[in-house]
Order: sequence, then structure tokens, then C-alpha cells
Amino acid sequence: MYDSIQLLTMEKTILITGGAGFIGSHVVRLFVNKYPDYHIVNLDALTYAGNLENLKDVADAPNYTFVKGDITDEEFIPQLFEKYDFDGVIHLAAESHVDRSISDPLAFIRTNVFGTANLLNAAKEAWKGKMEGKRFYHISTDEVYGSLGKEGYFTEETPYDPRSPYSASKASADHFVRAYYHTYGLPVLISNCSNNYGSHHFPEKLIPLCINNIRYNRPLPVYGKGENVRDWLWVDDHAAAIDIIFHQGKIGETYNIGGHNEWTNIRLIEKLCEIMDRKLGRESGESAKLITFVKDRAGHDLRYAIDSSKLQRELGWQPSITFEEGLEKTVDWYLENQEWLDNVINGDYQNYYEKQYSEREKS
Ligand code: NAD
Ligand code: TYD
Repeated sequence: MYDSIQLLTMEKTILITGGAGFIGSHVVRLFVNKYPDYHIVNLDALTYAGNLENLKDVADAPNYTFVKGDITDEEFIPQLFEKYDFDGVIHLAAESHVDRSISDPLAFIRTNVFGTANLLNAAKEAWKGKMEGKRFYHISTDEVYGSLGKEGYFTEETPYDPRSPYSASKASADHFVRAYYHTYGLPVLISNCSNNYGSHHFPEKLIPLCINNIRYNRPLPVYGKGENVRDWLWVDDHAAAIDIIFHQGKIGETYNIGGHNEWTNIRLIEKLCEIMDRKLGRESGESAKLITFVKDRAGHDLRYAIDSSKLQRELGWQPSITFEEGLEKTVDWYLENQEWLDNVINGDYQNYYEKQYSEREKS
């Protein structure tokens, strides 16, 4: 276990929030393994989306500490900053699912807006008079830019136009991050990334939901006509971008992250069906019979597409694998980790699923 002698010899202490979630667990793993002289403190409230199973391979690493706690807690967060004297913060903790934000918007305001402001405030107080070398990095989403038509891309200059309670809460958090930079000189960074996919993705989201439903021969619920477009990025490529931006990004700047990989939902689901037919030894076309068009999501954004040329040009980041490779690896991971999925989808998630999808009769 981590002890005070090691603390003294470690170069930096970094707070990662939301590290038990999908993207956060990939970021924690990368930092714990790549930077043995950093002490990584993972703060997570372990909501329905947080799962310590995601990090069992690094749980006993000497440079890793897990802290269970809530980013909205006004007493606890300043105490945590005092206890650990953080050099940097990588903030991922959030409510992250658009459909849940439609049924419970206030939970998103509490966590994503107030929680972020609470962290900013704690950093401002703890770092007073010693901001040099510190970094407060907020992980945001391309959804803050709104919805594109058939043409064009989101750049860092695209005006904010959030349209769901989720994206509005993330946009608001981004504004607070910039306000703390301009008003208090807090050394901040923001990145806005497109949709991620890969292992440990909670099965309320499209790709793992479809993999799980195909496996159990359950309907594949396609919202509306399935013509909405998302720009998919391999989660480890996002984690690699976060590493680069945290270390080399210019304070006060924003970086867009995306892999130029646009897919309509229906094409993506058909592709998943093909892969699953092959992996499960089913006849070609069998899984696609599960495709079921259902009532559209309220305010469903048509298209997201990221221009990440600034990040590529200025910091030299590139996606490392193709979507075809990434999807194969993702499907393999879910098929090999059925126990992880079974543990995640029992109990509360089952109730969420029944409620969410029974209200969407076939269209
Ligand atoms: P996730 O829902 O899988 O994980 C969120 C984590 O935050 C969970 O471990 C949860 O327990 C924790 N958490 C929630 N509320 C908390 C609170 N009040 N205090 C402490 N911890 C709390 O989310 P994700 O998909 O991994 O997304 C991580 C971040 O990346 C989010 O900020 C999200 O907005 C952003 N993002 C996600 C995507 C994507 O495609 N998933 C794309 C771009 C940006
Ligand atoms: P999702 O994974 O929820 O991510 P986001 O809404 O943040 O982009 O959804 C991806 C796309 O898939 C989005 O256009 C909504 C659609 N979708 C469905 O068609 N059916 C589903 O059951 C879900 C969860 C999503």
C-alpha cells in the first residue's frame, strides 16, 4: 500500500475524478502504469456508473489511492485538497447519459455544474499564491456545440449551443472553468471529445447496449430512423489525448478531440450485427432481424463531427487504431467479460431499462 515515505519521493500528486467510470478508468490505468512517480488519487462517488471492478488490475499499485466521495460535497472537497496538496486535477466525474438527463435534469445540474464549480473553488483556495505549475483540466464533450446539419465540423471556435440537459450542464461547467481562469487566474485546460467506445462502457450507451442485446436475442432499439450521426473514438485514444493535453496543453486553451469517424446509428448497428453473427457463429443477417425502430429521443441532436486538427497540429496527437479494429476488440472484450456485464446489468439497471424502453413503443 501507499505510505508517507513513498509520498515524499513522488514527483506529483494528481486528482482524477470519476476514475471508476468508463473513460476515467482508462485514464487512471494509463497514468498509474505510465507514471510510477506520480501519486494518482481517484475520487469517485461510485454512482450506478462507477465500478471498482474496472480498476482491479491497478487497485494494489503503490502509486494509486481510491477515495470514495462526492464532488458536490462542500466540506469534504476542500479537506481533500488540503490533505493531498494536489499538483493537478483531471476532472471526469459527471452524470453522462443524455436519456437520463431528459428524465432527471436536476441531477445533472447538481453534479456537472455545481460539482465542477465546487472543485474549481477548492482548487482556487488550495492553490492561492502558488498557481505556478498547477493544472485544472476539465474533460468535456462535443455535445456543448449543439447539432450539425449534413455539412461542417465543430472547431474550438464553434459557438456553444447545447440542446439537452446533459449538454447544457457540461456547457455550463465549461463556462465556469473559463470564468475561474479569467477571474482568478486558475490554470485551466478544457477538451471537448466526441463519442467514445471500448471496454468497460456502461451498457446504457448504444454500443454496449447493442452488443448485450444481440447476445441475448433482445430487440435493438433504434431511435427514430437511425439517421443520426455520431463521430466515434476509441477510448484509449481519448485517454492518450488527455495525457498529452494535461502535460503539454497551453493553459487557458481548449482542444477538440475526435477521430474523423462518422457513422449513422443504423449503419453502426448493422456493422455490430455482422461482427456478432461472425463471432457467435450465427447465420449472416440473423442478428440484424433484432433491429427495432422505436420512438425518437426528445430533442435528438442530428449530427456531431469534430475537427481535431488543432490538437494534431499543435500537440501531435493521432488516433492509433481504425474503427474496424476497435469494434472487433470491443466486441471481443464484452464476450470475454460476460461476468462484468452480468454484474452491471442486474438490479437497478434492469429497472432503468424496463422503464426507459417500455415507454418507447415500436414506431
Ligand atoms: P461514466 O458515466 O461512465 O462515469 C462517470 C463517473 O463519475 C462514474 O464513475 C461515477 O461514479 C462518477 N460520478 C458521478 N457523479 C459523481 C459525483 N457527484 N461525485 C464523484 N463521482 C461521481 O462517464 P464517462 O462516459 O466515463 O464520461 C466521463 C467524462 O467524460 C464525463 O465528464 C463526460 O461528460 C465526458 N465525456 C464522455 C464521452 C463519452 O462518449 N462517454 C465523450 C466526451 C466526454
Ligand atoms: P448514446 O450512446 O446514448 O450517446 P450520445 O447520446 O451521447 O451520443 O447514443 C448514441 C446514439 O445512439 C444517439 O444518436 C442515440 C442513439 N441511441 C439509439 O438509437 N438507441 C438506444 O437505445 C440508445 C441508448 C441510443
